[in-house]
Amino acid sequence: MAVGIFDSGLGGLTVYSKVAERLPDVPLCYFGDNAHAPYGVRDADDIYDLTCRAVERLWDAGCDLVILACNTASAVALRRMQESWVPRDKRVLGVFVPLIEAMTEREWGDNSPPREVAIKNVALFATPATVASRAFQRELAFRAIGVDVEAQPCGGVVDAIEDGDDILAEALVRSHVEALKRRMPHPQAAVLGSTHYPLMQPIFQDALGPDVKVYGQAELVADSLADYLDRHPKMIGAGQDQVFLTTGNPKHVSSKAVKFLRREINFQAA
Ligand code: DGL
Repeated sequence: MAVGIFDSGLGGLTVYSKVAERLPDVPLCYFGDNAHAPYGVRDADDIYDLTCRAVERLWDAGCDLVILACNTASAVALRRMQESWVPRDKRVLGVFVPLIEAMTEREWGDNSPPREVAIKNVALFATPATVASRAFQRELAFRAIGVDVEAQPCGGVVDAIEDGDDILAEALVRSHVEALKRRMPHPQAAVLGSTHYPLMQPIFQDALGPDVKVYGQAELVADSLADYLDRHPKMIGAGQDQVFLTTGNPKHVSSKAVKFLRREINFQAA
């Protein structure tokens, strides 16, 4: 048994690496649904079905707790899964809540009523499906009042990063930031709401300017998971194996993974 980390593809390795750093003694099983990525342009039912199938595979691998590192799955599928699908003895957690708790200056798991917070204008950069779901705004509204969110669907960025086309990825990031700034000229904070965007964090920061606080999720997710496991130690299983599963071609996926983890890993067929 172990803790599972799910993503539509390889971007979730940005979360995996921070979790592995923060919790070196916890065995982690990673699942990348590379055969069906990207999720960001799929419809809600499709994302729900694919995510449930992947999470079931991680349960079969002995993980009682699965983190949806994928923002699109967290935004589109997680609530429906938690409400009607996840069995009592299992947990599935997403990536938006830890981020929003940090932005709204809350302790992890603080479910007190929404209140005024320092940040008033937030720019959200995410996939088209995440933006369409409005899940970020919904989770934020549970915790804060008076925060204006402007969301920018960042078409093309994930594909450009996956294809290793850094020049195109940079050009797209700059044009998406420009588009957002036309609607919200002075955001105080920006959320990089896709697993791949941390790889472009310096470009986002440069395009947004030094006064904008850019929030990535990987470290926040790792910290909140550490806190969660402190409070729920039974959710860590007894298994010792780190395993990387993919629905894609394991050899091809393993070679692409080097860009995300900066070390060799071997994916196995899921
Ligand atoms: N993992 C997805 C996310 O974080 C990005 C890639 C995709 O569209 O599947 O939203």
